[in-house]
Amino acid sequence: MSEVAELKLEGQTVELPVVVGTENEKGIDISNLRAKTGYITLDNGYMNTGACTSAITFIDGEKGILRYRGIPIEVLAERSSFLETAYLLIDGKLPTQPELDNFTNRVRRHTMIHEDIKRFYDGFPRDAHPMAILASVVSSLSTFYQHENNRTEAELFSLNTVRLLAKLPTIAACAYKKSIGQPLMYPQNHMSYCENFLHMMFSTPAEHYEVDPVMIETLNLLLILHADHEQNCSTSTVRMVSSSKASLFAAITAGICALWGPRHGGANEEVIDMLTQMRNEGGSVSKYVEMAKDKNTKFKLMGFGHRVYKNFDPRAKILKAACDKLLAKMKISDPLLDLAKELEEAALKDPYFIERKLYPNVDFYSGIIYKAMGIPTVAFTVMFALGRLPGWIAHAKEYLNEPGNKINRPRQIYIGPALADYVSVDKRK
Ligand code: ACO
Repeated sequence: MSEVAELKLEGQTVELPVVVGTENEKGIDISNLRAKTGYITLDNGYMNTGACTSAITFIDGEKGILRYRGIPIEVLAERSSFLETAYLLIDGKLPTQPELDNFTNRVRRHTMIHEDIKRFYDGFPRDAHPMAILASVVSSLSTFYQHENNRTEAELFSLNTVRLLAKLPTIAACAYKKSIGQPLMYPQNHMSYCENFLHMMFSTPAEHYEVDPVMIETLNLLLILHADHEQNCSTSTVRMVSSSKASLFAAITAGICALWGPRHGGANEEVIDMLTQMRNEGGSVSKYVEMAKDKNTKFKLMGFGHRVYKNFDPRAKILKAACDKLLAKMKISDPLLDLAKELEEAALKDPYFIERKLYPNVDFYSGIIYKAMGIPTVAFTVMFALGRLPGWIAHAKEYLNEPGNKINRPRQIYIGPALADYVSVDKRK
């Protein structure tokens, strides 16, 4: 017999079914609680609340496990490409060779943005944050693809998936070019996904940028590692917006906005800010390590520790090796990167960090890698968005295909004033 939980309330015992996941994760199904008892549950920050069942990504933070559709991240990092991983997340299985070729070709053919969109970039201030531009331009895609009633919902979702995957790198690179006053570069469809993005970022009409294969390999890896992380803030936002049946463009725009915040996608930027401050103050690593250990300072070493991974973050382990390889290959000399290596070594042998299992996290290494690639710090979160896009799309699709799905509408416990009088303005104090 399947397990049930018993809840005692006002002398009544309510039985609540227990839902068991593939990896034996257990949840108490409270969907009938209010109907049976009049009570709701309260869970600030959703620390204990499962918002859905999902078949996309599995994480075990204690054991340092991350799998997409059952496949370990280490295997995908070694053997897959970003577009293949996107297919896996969105369609639920690895593509056959013809399926992959067809998907890759479809994405290739949608990389250009409408010529009128290019004019939007002239309207943004020169110093506009690239995440604001990304959100605005993605939102505007809805206006270019609004008369498509002759397609089924599934066909339209598939087409918009391809459009988003193809156009997001172009939109992001245009935002960067605008910020440095260079002409926007057209995509080159004979190039691979990652090579094309680096070309649009760093080529100019006057000079073609020869992309180093190690950069392409590292970018492919970074995008795979960021592609999904189950019900994080931006992904939950995408599911929430999708639940109102708004368009996929609207849902992804909302995801980009949620990712922008420093508590979510912004941490890798803070790693570089911290290293810059460290360098400006004379470059004393030990001073910062001591500050991080001193409970009176409230200072934390940016890029260390993780809420879910209490052993190690499997993505950080993979990125550390990629980071070492990239820095060695590119022979980059940057005092900030030297400081990062020094800090990593100091923290990894310090008992405070060892006892608390505080390892460098994915943001520590991704920040260093983006810096080494020449990506401006302000655009780091944009890179995160490029990687996370397939995860957002996969979750929107999973939600929309769920039989009997409902609009997501949490409840609350009201703690404001009880019934109050409307006092006319001349009598108010
Ligand atoms: N530097 C110094 N001490 C730290 C750090 C750090 N980066 N992280 C945690 N600690 C200490 C805490 O002070 C606490 O010490 P105590 O037991 O003596 O009180 C102990 O380690 C446990 O830490 P918690 O705060 O309980 O861990 P929590 O899970 O709440 O926080 C978090 C995780 C938010 C990521 C935290 O480690 C942190 O702020 N790190 C720096 C910011 C960062 O890199 N964020 C990116 C995370 S990765 C990602 O989002 C993709």
